[in-house]
Amino acid sequence: MPSSSEAAIVVDGVTKSFGKVEALRGVNLTVEPGIVFGLLGPNGAGKTTLVNILATLQRPSSGSASVAGYDAVREASRVRSAIGLAGQFAAVDDQLTGLENIEMVGRLYHLPGEVAKRRARTLIEQFGLEDAADRQAKTYSGGMRRRLDLAAAIVNEPQVLFLDEPTTGLDPRSRIELWAVIDELAKGGTTVLLTTQYLEEADRLASYIAVVDHGLVIAQGTATELKERVGGRVLAVRLRDAAQIDPARGILQAFGDTPYVDVAAHEVTVAVGSEPGVVAEIIRALDAGNITVADLQFRQPSLDDVFLALTGRAAEEVDAELATASRSGARA
Ligand SMILES: Nc1ncnc2c1ncn2[C@@H]1O[C@H](COP(=O)(O)OP(=O)(O)O)[C@@H](O)[C@H]1O
Ligand SMILES: [Mg+2]
Repeated sequence: MPSSSEAAIVVDGVTKSFGKVEALRGVNLTVEPGIVFGLLGPNGAGKTTLVNILATLQRPSSGSASVAGYDAVREASRVRSAIGLAGQFAAVDDQLTGLENIEMVGRLYHLPGEVAKRRARTLIEQFGLEDAADRQAKTYSGGMRRRLDLAAAIVNEPQVLFLDEPTTGLDPRSRIELWAVIDELAKGGTTVLLTTQYLEEADRLASYIAVVDHGLVIAQGTATELKERVGGRVLAVRLRDAAQIDPARGILQAFGDTPYVDVAAHEVTVAVGSEPGVVAEIIRALDAGNITVADLQFRQPSLDDVFLALTGRAAEEVDAELATASRSGARA
C-alpha cells in the first residue's frame, strides 16, 4: 500500500449539503496511482458531487480532499492543471470541428498554438475520429461526441482523469468502443476515476471499486472481493406461476439471506453460500412444496447481486424510488 502522500486521490471525511439535501455524508477514499478506480452507484448516490469536489468545481461542506498531492480547496489551481474531466454531459462545442474542439481546450490549458494543433491531430487519430476531424461536432453521433469529449479531456496529459458516467445513454456498440478507449488510457499510466451506474461497466474496467449509496461508501474492494461478500453462489429460481412466488420465497428463506423477488420475471434469487449439496436440498424442498420450477440457475454472484446484498434493493429500483420521491416532492 502506498502511503496517502503518494496516492493519486485522497478523500477524507468529505460531506456536501445542498440546503437540506446531504449529497455526501462523510466519504473516505484512497485511490492508488495508475489504476482505474470505479465509483459505482445508482442515480442520486452522490457520484457527480464527489467528482465536482475533486475537480475543484465545488467545495466540500466539511472534510478535505487532495488530488495529485494538492489540496482540492487551497491548491485548486494546481489541481486543475493536473487533471482532466469529462463530465456527465459531453462538453463539446457544436459549431467547431472535432479538431478545433480539442485545439481550443489545449489553448485553454495554455499549450502553444502549434503544440495544441499537433496534439489535437494525434488525439483525433487515437480516438478513431480521423474521418470526422474536419466536420462540425453537431454532425457527430452520441458515441463520437463522447470520444471527442474524452480526447479533449486529456489534451493536457493529465495525471488524473475523471470520467463521470462516460457511457450513460450510449448504445451497446458505442459503449464497447468507449471501453476500449478507456482501457488504452489506463495502460498509458493515467489514474482514472470513473463513475458509473452500470455494474457490468465497473466490473469490466475498474481494478478497484467503491460502491456509493445515499452519499456514503457502503463497500469497496476489487470486483472479486465484492462478489465474495455476497458469500458463495447465487441461486435464481424462475417459477411458472406468479401465485407461487410467495410460497417459494418462504422455502428459499431457510437456505440463505432474505431472498430477492423480481415479480415481473417470476424469479426469486437467494445467496446460498457454497456448501455442497445445498442445491439438491433446495430442489427437494421446492418439490415437497409443490412449486413448479420453470428455470433454475446456480451461478457466481454478479455485481448486481452485490448491490442487492448490500442495500436490500436492486440498482434499477433506485431509479423508481427517485422518480417517486421527485414526484411527491413536486406535489409538496
Ligand atoms: N446543485 C444541487 N442542488 C441541490 N441538490 C443537488 C445539487 N447537486 C446534487 N444535488 C442532489 O445531491 C444528490 C446527489 O446528486 P449527484 O451527485 O448528482 O448524484 P449522482 O451523480 O450519483 O447521480 C441528489 O439527491 C441530488 O439531487
Ligand atoms: Mg451524476
